[in-house]
Amino acid sequence: MKDIIILGIESSCDDTSAAVIKNGELLSNVVANQAVHEAYGGVVPELASRAHQQNIVPVVHEALKRANITKEQLSAIAFTRGPGLMGSLLVGVSFAKGFARSLNIPLIDVNHLQGHILAHFIKEPGVEFVPPQFPFLCLLVSGGNSQIVIVKSYNKMDVIGQTIDDAAGEAIDKCSKVMGLGYPGGPIIDKLARQGNPKAYTFAKPHIPNYDFSFSGLKTSFLYSLRDWIKEDPNFIENHKEDLAASLEATVVDILMTKLRKAAKDLKINEIAVAGGVSANNGLRNAFREHATKYGWKIYIPKFSFTTDNAAMITITGYYKYLDKDFCTIDLPAFSRVTFNK
Ligand code: KG4
Repeated sequence: MKDIIILGIESSCDDTSAAVIKNGELLSNVVANQAVHEAYGGVVPELASRAHQQNIVPVVHEALKRANITKEQLSAIAFTRGPGLMGSLLVGVSFAKGFARSLNIPLIDVNHLQGHILAHFIKEPGVEFVPPQFPFLCLLVSGGNSQIVIVKSYNKMDVIGQTIDDAAGEAIDKCSKVMGLGYPGGPIIDKLARQGNPKAYTFAKPHIPNYDFSFSGLKTSFLYSLRDWIKEDPNFIENHKEDLAASLEATVVDILMTKLRKAAKDLKINEIAVAGGVSANNGLRNAFREHATKYGWKIYIPKFSFTTDNAAMITITGYYKYLDKDFCTIDLPAFSRVTFNK
């Protein structure tokens, strides 16, 4: 049988990435982060698209080189169609279209959120492969999304709960910014939290029905509490940053796990996965492990490099779409906002 070799391209936010998967197995995954945003405390869309333009050719070249694959061997090109920043997406989308047309091979559009979930199906050479069994629940938590998804198959996913305002990662990043820490705040808060007391402070938790989330109240509560404490002690943040980080993280994790527990119990599903940038968080990972022991969940936690944006997850999604012959036409536009079942 002919080898199926997919090149995948991810450019939805501030990471330019390309990966190669051969017959379902990952051969390379190259990610170029964009340091340019650090000075601004957040992603500057125009700078992101310009950096993608500079990075895309060397990143794709490097991914093919590390995989030891020539462009003529490729079976198809998969790309992130959305959601994401329009200017960033356009770089990857246009590159993928031009490259596929020049090679006369099929194009596969990939939903970035589906990619985060299918990161659990990335098979690496020499690494034990234990993917979740369908149907499973996935807590998808990133800088732009917080959702609980029932994953029925590779291409059938239903969102049963989502944030009604900020995403979990966005809330952590904004609180970290208020504390004057660097960008992105998630990894910094994670590191500080490991040395702090998660019960030191209490912040507001939402009362939202069903499986939906809300994080804007927590953000406001964090901001107002800090303001009061700083009035009494101008060095409050510096003196208590570990406890603040640990308490903030514990609140976010509790909000997420409360809803996930409810969904798992109501739907009687005990195959539970976590995905997205915030799934790199050690507090959240520990909470998953504790729930596995306490509630008999079978948990699936991705490898760190597959939590934040990467092309390996886009490429594996492209691989399954290739098996279904689910190709797209060259006139397909990028989309900035969408959930599943586009
Ligand atoms: O999935 P991702 O790379 O991009 C989106 O698609 O949004 O997620 C980025 C988010 C950011 O909010 C970042 O702060 C957060 O993931 N993040 C973390 C950690 N690492 C990344 N949040 C908490 N703890 C971490 N270790």
